[in-house]
Amino acid sequence: MRKPVIFGNWKMNKTIAETVEFINAVDKEVKDNADWGIGVPYLALAKAKELAGNLNIAAENMHFKDNGAYTGEVSAEMLKEIGIEWVILGHSERRQYFGETDETVNAKTLQALKNGLTPIVCVGETLEQFEADETENVVRTQTAAALKDVCPNCIKKVVIAYEPVWAIGTGKTATNEIAQNVCAIIRDELAKLFGQEAADAVRIQYGGSVKPEGIKTLLEQPDIDGALVGGASLVADSYIAMIENLG
Ligand code: PGA
Repeated sequence: MRKPVIFGNWKMNKTIAETVEFINAVDKEVKDNADWGIGVPYLALAKAKELAGNLNIAAENMHFKDNGAYTGEVSAEMLKEIGIEWVILGHSERRQYFGETDETVNAKTLQALKNGLTPIVCVGETLEQFEADETENVVRTQTAAALKDVCPNCIKKVVIAYEPVWAIGTGKTATNEIAQNVCAIIRDELAKLFGQEAADAVRIQYGGSVKPEGIKTLLEQPDIDGALVGGASLVADSYIAMIENLG
């Protein structure tokens, strides 16, 4: 039985003051029906972690080296120092705007696991690839590349987020059927790479214009174990509605 895992992804939103306000409103409403969390910008991470008793707090990125001359970057050790246990890696916005590649996502995934962090590894096709019927090929390739050299025991810790780029922030949600089909393909790829037993243990999220009203039926899909939620995770009431709607 895979426990649902639902994370907000705040992206470049919310000051520390706004973070405090959100956590004070939402943390006490969290139920044990899922692992609930939020990806928070670096500057507000320490405060978020200090205040959150029930919400899990994730960084939205991390460097793949231990330390060194990498101006502007943040290491796993720095995240661990403030108690962070989760990190979102390879989000399509990082791939699109900040030069993230399958190779860097892989290096970061290995670095997260080496440091005991739980990585949420994002994969997903662009609109062009979707329309050219390349989704299966893209998600299999991205999944295999991101997880290269991950040890068979470590894979169960990894969370995969399937996020079709055309559905992110556009209001166009993939239908539950499309999302389920692609998440099943990802699980099939995991089985090829790590064996069926390991593949059955990995939690796979869907992300892309997820709304509180859709969360329950989304998670009823057999291969969808959670969600990565952008816009709808920014408003406390909307986040609380997700918790309530999940049941
Ligand atoms: P969205 O973002 O829910 O606003 O589409 C999802 C994401 O980018 O993780």
